Amino acid sequence: MEITFLLNGETVCAESGATGTLLDWLREERGLCGTKEGCNEGDCGACTVMVTDADGSRALNACILFMPQLAGKAVRTVEGIAGPQGQMHPAQEAMVAKHGSQCGFCTPGFVVSMAVAHLNGRHDHDDQLAGNLCRCTGYAPIVRAAEAIEGTPVPDWMLADAGKVGLDPPTPEASVGQDPPYCPTSSDALARWYLDNPDATLIAGATDVGLWVTKQFRNLGPVAFLNRCTDLQTITEEGDVLRVGAGVTMTSLLEVIAAPHPSYAELIRRYGSVQVRNAATIGGSIANGSPIGDNAPALIALGATLHLRKGDTRRHLPVEAFFLDYGKQDRAPGEFVEAVTIPRTAQALRCYKISKRFDQDISAVCGCFNLTIEGGMVQAATIAFGGMAGTPKRASFVEAALVGKTWDATTVEAALPAFAEDFAPLTDMRASATYRLEVARNLLRRYRADLAGELVSVLEVQP
Ligand SMILES: Cc1cc2nc3c(=O)[nH]c(=O)nc-3n(C[C@H](O)[C@H](O)[C@H](O)COP(=O)(O)OP(=O)(O)OC[C@H]3O[C@@H](n4cnc5c(N)ncnc54)[C@H](O)[C@@H]3O)c2cc1C
Ligand code: FES
Ligand code: FES
Repeated sequence: MEITFLLNGETVCAESGATGTLLDWLREERGLCGTKEGCNEGDCGACTVMVTDADGSRALNACILFMPQLAGKAVRTVEGIAGPQGQMHPAQEAMVAKHGSQCGFCTPGFVVSMAVAHLNGRHDHDDQLAGNLCRCTGYAPIVRAAEAIEGTPVPDWMLADAGKVGLDPPTPEASVGQDPPYCPTSSDALARWYLDNPDATLIAGATDVGLWVTKQFRNLGPVAFLNRCTDLQTITEEGDVLRVGAGVTMTSLLEVIAAPHPSYAELIRRYGSVQVRNAATIGGSIANGSPIGDNAPALIALGATLHLRKGDTRRHLPVEAFFLDYGKQDRAPGEFVEAVTIPRTAQALRCYKISKRFDQDISAVCGCFNLTIEGGMVQAATIAFGGMAGTPKRASFVEAALVGKTWDATTVEAALPAFAEDFAPLTDMRASATYRLEVARNLLRRYRADLAGELVSVLEVQP
């Protein structure tokens, strides 16, 4: 099929299969080998490119970015970060001046991430670069390079794409003998098509589906790309809830959730990396049914509601009721996630992610606590965990052990045995069953200490 977009300032008409990746196309069809392949699964950032559309410019991993997702957008690779006459971008100059590169394999990805952060005026360099791995230079010189260009002018050529991307991009066109992917521009159109094609694969951010192709070499059959359904990308305030469309990215969710739920926002800050959050959607993170995802436990603890749609029929259910068993969700053929409604207030929500690596890692255990405490007594409790069962799951026995009791260390200690009634976790590469159960118990202790104002975050530990 043919996909039209801007590549380093020039319009290109790319020939690609529906699940061809940008990384492969750049390297194999265009000879643009500055964009590197490290992991081919979104983890290392060696393939980072800048993508601009009507919503602005962002860093994305080209290895799990399918070509039809680019229609009508603008892509800048590391070759296009330099100026048209070969002028170096300030990020490139700073990497040289600050000795930010040794073997250089990671460098193009770092430079692109730095250039996008520079364009967007971001100075939170640790977060902006958390999705770029470097094995030899070490991060201090790289961060020094990013700091060195803070506030310097953005080169003209970096701003040129924004004026050229269309609001009404051309739909990818089928080549002779090919079935094009379905690229609906509204959820109504998607609903009609999905009724007739219930076995098709929906692709939202592709941070899961991308790996089915690059790691499992799966042929997906008919696919629909959701990224043009702008009505699925809205966030609206509806009384005491926020209605978040299924197509809202984790980056956008982080922005709106920071004020009402700072602890949830801190969890999202550690959700993958900038590149992953710029692609991953809240709908995909629930529909994938992952027992180790970070969103579901937070949403369950908040008492969020999931909105599903099949044709013109809509229904809603508590997020926790969606997860029936490992790999099994309450979603009928032809039915898709339309939105999630999230309460805007919670008296004492805390979300804790325990993973081997602080940034860019999947949780071994994710515990989310939401207690209502009045007059020193626990009036209500909603506690949910990821990584402790085949689904994200509430800790019902622990909740029962807390409700109606005085909120103190004695009550917490007395509730700890209930974890073994709620959970029989697995041992896998991330953690042993014993470790998981012990961590879950300790997270309840941490929650009490946290609400009491004690320092509990690793980031607060002082030498
Ligand atoms: C490097 C990396 C790091 C990651 N780190 C984390 C992390 O820290 N925490 C975490 O929780 N997850 C993490 N993930 C997992 C991933 O980002 C999430 O699962 C993501 O939110 C999925 O959303 P998506 O839009 O990319 O979904 P996609 O990959 O597009 O789709 C995932 C599944 O959902 C279905 N789907 C998508 N949208 C809908 C819809 N509206 N209705 C019905 N079905 C739909 C698809 O058909 C597919 O089955 C990471 C992934 C990568 C690659
Ligand atoms: S090659 Fe590692 S993130 Fe793409
Ligand atoms: S300079 Fe070698 S991996 Fe970063």
